[in-house]
Amino acid sequence: MTNSLTRPSLDASQILADLGLVLAGERDLHHTAMAALEIVLLAAHAKSGALFRFQERPPMLASVAALGFPLFPQTAVFPLLPKHIHALSQVNIPQKLCRERCDIFLSSTGNISTVWFKCLVPLKVRGKLIGALMLGEREGGSEYPPELLRQMGEVAPFIALAIHNHQLMMTLQERTAENLRLVASAHGFWDNALEAFAATIDAKDVYMHGHSLRVGRYAAGIAEALSMGLNEINELRAAGYLHDIGKVNVDKRLFSKATALEPTEFREMSDHTVVGHQIVSTVQFPWPNIPEVVRSHHERADGSGYPDHLGNDEVSMPVKIVAVADTFDAMLSERPYRKRLSLGEVAAQISWLAPAKLDADVVQALLIQLRRDAVGLITPPRPWAAAEGKSRKPFLDPEIACNIAPTDIDLLASEMNRRLNRGRTFSHT
Ligand SMILES: [Fe+2]
Repeated sequence: MTNSLTRPSLDASQILADLGLVLAGERDLHHTAMAALEIVLLAAHAKSGALFRFQERPPMLASVAALGFPLFPQTAVFPLLPKHIHALSQVNIPQKLCRERCDIFLSSTGNISTVWFKCLVPLKVRGKLIGALMLGEREGGSEYPPELLRQMGEVAPFIALAIHNHQLMMTLQERTAENLRLVASAHGFWDNALEAFAATIDAKDVYMHGHSLRVGRYAAGIAEALSMGLNEINELRAAGYLHDIGKVNVDKRLFSKATALEPTEFREMSDHTVVGHQIVSTVQFPWPNIPEVVRSHHERADGSGYPDHLGNDEVSMPVKIVAVADTFDAMLSERPYRKRLSLGEVAAQISWLAPAKLDADVVQALLIQLRRDAVGLITPPRPWAAAEGKSRKPFLDPEIACNIAPTDIDLLASEMNRRLNRGRTFSHT
C-alpha cells in the first residue's frame, strides 16, 4: 500500500475520483475489489480491511478481497441468520463495531473472528443488500470518527454498484456458457443449434441484427475459396456464429451510441473478446480453434489489434478468416455513426487493408467469392448445372446488392498484388 502520509485528511470526492477510475476500469471482481479496498484503507488510515459480497443461498457474506490481515482464509465467510440480514438491510450508515454490536450484524460461526473488524459499511443497491465493507484497526489504534463514517457512507454506494454490476455480468456470462454447453451436448445438431445461438447474440441490438450469422456464412465461404476441408469449413462457420458471444456482457447502450466511445466504454466493448473466450473455453467443441477465434478476431496483422496485440504470424488461419469476414460485414452494415457502404467501396477498402491489417491471402479469397457472385449475375442460368449438382449458392447475403463488376474486382486484386510484390524482398540464401 502507498504511504498514508500522502493523504493527511479525508476527502470523499477525492476517494470517489480514485475509486471511479478503478471501478470503471477493471472487469475482474477480485482485482477491482482489491484496488477499491486499497483506496479506502488509505483514505481511512485503516491498517486492514475486507470486502464481502452477500450471497443469498445459503445466506452469507463471502470475502472477495482482503488486505492487511496477518492470517486470512482464501475466502472468509460469515453465515447469516435472518436477524443479521434484517439488521444489515436496515442500517444505512457505516457502523462502529465492538464485541457486543458484532452479534447484531454477524454470526460468530464464520471461519474468521469478528473481533478483527472495527467498522462495518453496508453495501446496498436500491435498498437491497449487496455486501459489506469491513475495516480493521486504524493506525495508532484510534477510533473511526463520525466524519469519517459519514464519508464512508458517501463512497459505499459506488462500491456496491460495482459489485452488483459484476454479479449481473457473471450471471449472464454463466447462463450463456451453460446454454452453449447444452447445445454442445446435442450431438449432430451443431449447425442448426449454433445458428439459433448466433441469432440470440445478434438480438442484443438492432445494429447487430444478423451480423453473427452472416460472419459465419462469409467465413465458411472464404474457407471454401481457400480449398479448406469440409470439417474446417464447418469450424469456420461455427466460429463466425460465436465470435461475438462475449457481447452478451456489453451494455446495450454502447451499440447504438452515435459518437465515439469514451476510453472506459471502449474498454468494455473490447473486453467482449476476453469474456467470449472465457465463455467458449468451458465448452467441448468438435473443433479446436473456436476459443482462439473468439479471443483474437480483433487482432490485426501489424499488431495494432486487441486484446493481445498479436501479429499476423501469431494467429491461426481461422482467426485471420473471421477477422476478414467480420470487417467485411461491419463495413457493409449501417452503424449509428455512419451509413452503410456500397459493395464496391467495401471491396476497395478491404483490399487496401491487406497486408498491414488483414491477411492478404484471406482477402484474396474474399475477392474470389465476390467475383463468383458478380459473374453469376451476368452469366445466363445453365439449367444443366443444377442437374449436375454444380449449382452454387451465392456468397453474399441476399439483402446485399451485388452491384460490382467482375472487372472492378480484378482491378482490386491486381492492385493488391502489385502492392504486395513491391514490398516483397527476395533473399538468395
Ligand atoms: Fe467482435
